Amino acid sequence: MRTPAQPPAPWNGDHLRTRFFDALSLMLPSGEAFVIQAVADWLEDERHGRGAPEDLRVQARQFVREEQSHQRAHRLYNERLSQQGLPARELEARIEAAVAELGTLGLPTRLALAAAFEHLTALLSVEVLRGRVWLSVDAGGREARLWRWHCEEEVGHRHVVRDLAAASRVGFARRAGCLLLASLYLGFDVVRLLTRLLRHDMQAGALRRFALAGQACRLAAAAAPGLLRMGLGWLGYLRPASHPAA
Ligand SMILES: [Fe+2]
Ligand SMILES: [Fe+2]
Repeated sequence: MRTPAQPPAPWNGDHLRTRFFDALSLMLPSGEAFVIQAVADWLEDERHGRGAPEDLRVQARQFVREEQSHQRAHRLYNERLSQQGLPARELEARIEAAVAELGTLGLPTRLALAAAFEHLTALLSVEVLRGRVWLSVDAGGREARLWRWHCEEEVGHRHVVRDLAAASRVGFARRAGCLLLASLYLGFDVVRLLTRLLRHDMQAGALRRFALAGQACRLAAAAAPGLLRMGLGWLGYLRPASHPAA
């Protein structure tokens, strides 16, 4: 087996946290395409968005513009991963195929799924912006700036798709089922992509198993309070009060 090219030094303190964000970036262009399409279809739909209050429609259009700019930024980010010798295009293509299957669902289910993806993204974004656990203190470079900007916008528009789903009377069962499905999708894909990227680093001789175990232990200890907050936020999504118009 050919040894992969030596990757550059991790931009986020260590390999684990660097590759965690790199794995997320590989998922984003397709994931964002899914939520953009759901919101764009809502805006055009006679029964849902066409007759909705204008302020909701304005927020939906602003949401689409923000997600499109995230998409552009992450395509460039992923292109840089590809130039470093990582199988970024192949991994992106697999995510794209998986997301395409979700695109065939009806609009209420796609809205509920998009709202769930946005909720999960916002939960993580809050933790990323909170301190140095996920983005290290030294991470002042291009990637860290991109992530801070993206996370701030995710927190800022976290309510938009949820409000659209509520205005379209998406009910509890669909909301809860889609949160579970979105969590499984995201969790499974992040672990799969992260494993693939870290294996690449190990094959290139840039990372040893022992060092990775140490990084994992440190991250688990530091992230535990944040993971607990995220768990509570996950449950909070199911409260009727978080979807007032449903
Ligand atoms: Fe985004
Ligand atoms: Fe978003």
